[in-house]
Amino acid sequence: MTMAAETSGHARLMDGVYRRQRHIYDLTRKFYLLGRDGLIAGLAVPAGGSVLELGCGTGRNIALAAERFPDAHFYGLDISREMLATARQCMHREHIDDIVALAEADASAFDPRALFGKSRFDRVFISYSLSMIPPWRETIAAGLDCLAPGGTLHIVDFGRQERLPSWLRAGLRRWLAAFHVAPRDTLREALESECEKRGASLRFDSLFRGYAASAVIRMPG
Ligand SMILES: C[S@@+](CC[C@H](N)C(=O)[O-])C[C@H]1O[C@@H](n2cnc3c(N)ncnc32)[C@H](O)[C@@H]1O
Repeated sequence: MTMAAETSGHARLMDGVYRRQRHIYDLTRKFYLLGRDGLIAGLAVPAGGSVLELGCGTGRNIALAAERFPDAHFYGLDISREMLATARQCMHREHIDDIVALAEADASAFDPRALFGKSRFDRVFISYSLSMIPPWRETIAAGLDCLAPGGTLHIVDFGRQERLPSWLRAGLRRWLAAFHVAPRDTLREALESECEKRGASLRFDSLFRGYAASAVIRMPG
C-alpha cells in the first residue's frame, strides 16, 4: 500500500471513530485523558510565542492554552475532518479564531510552512494522539523538526500501566484497543534515542501509577 493510501485510510478510520463521538468527546474524556491540564500549565510559552498541537482533536487543549497564554499564537492540525469541524466551532465560540489556525494534515508527515506559513514553533505538544497514530515515532521526529532553537516538545499519553493491578491493565488494554488506541510501551526509549541524535534533553514522568506518561524534550538553544 502507498503512503498516500495509508494516510487516507487512517483519515477515514479516524472520521469513523469520531463522527458521533466528537459531540460528547470533551464531556466524557475529561474523566480518563489524565494529565492534559498539567501539560498545558507546563507549556510556559514565551511572550508572543507560537504553539502547535499535533492531533488537536476538538480544540479543547488549544482553547485552554489560549486562555492561559493570551498573547501567544496557536496552530493545530488533525487528520480527521470531523474533529476539525468541532475544533473550528470551539475556536469561534471562544472568540479566538484570530489567534488560532487549524489545518487538516497527517502529524507524521506534514509541511508546516505550506499549512501555516511558518516553519518553526516555540512549543509543540501531542496529547493522547501518539497512541492513535501508527507511525508514532515519525510523528515525534516531525514535531521535533519544527521546533525553534531552545523550543520544547510536550507529550502526554497512556503509559505502560506498570504499577496497576494486572487484571486492570489487561482490561484497560482491551478497552483501548476497541477504540484503535495502543499505548506506546517503548515511548521513553524512542524519546531518549531522538534526544541523543539531536543533543536535546528529556524529562520523562510516569503518572498515576503508570496509567499515563508525560515527557518534555528541550532542544539546544
Ligand atoms: C484521543 S484524540 C486526542 C485529541 C486531543 N489532542 C486531546 O487531548 O483531547 C486523538 C486525535 O488524534 C487524531 N489523529 C489520529 N491520527 C492522526 C494523524 N496521523 N495525524 C493527525 N491527527 C491524527 C485523531 O483524529 C484525534 O483527533
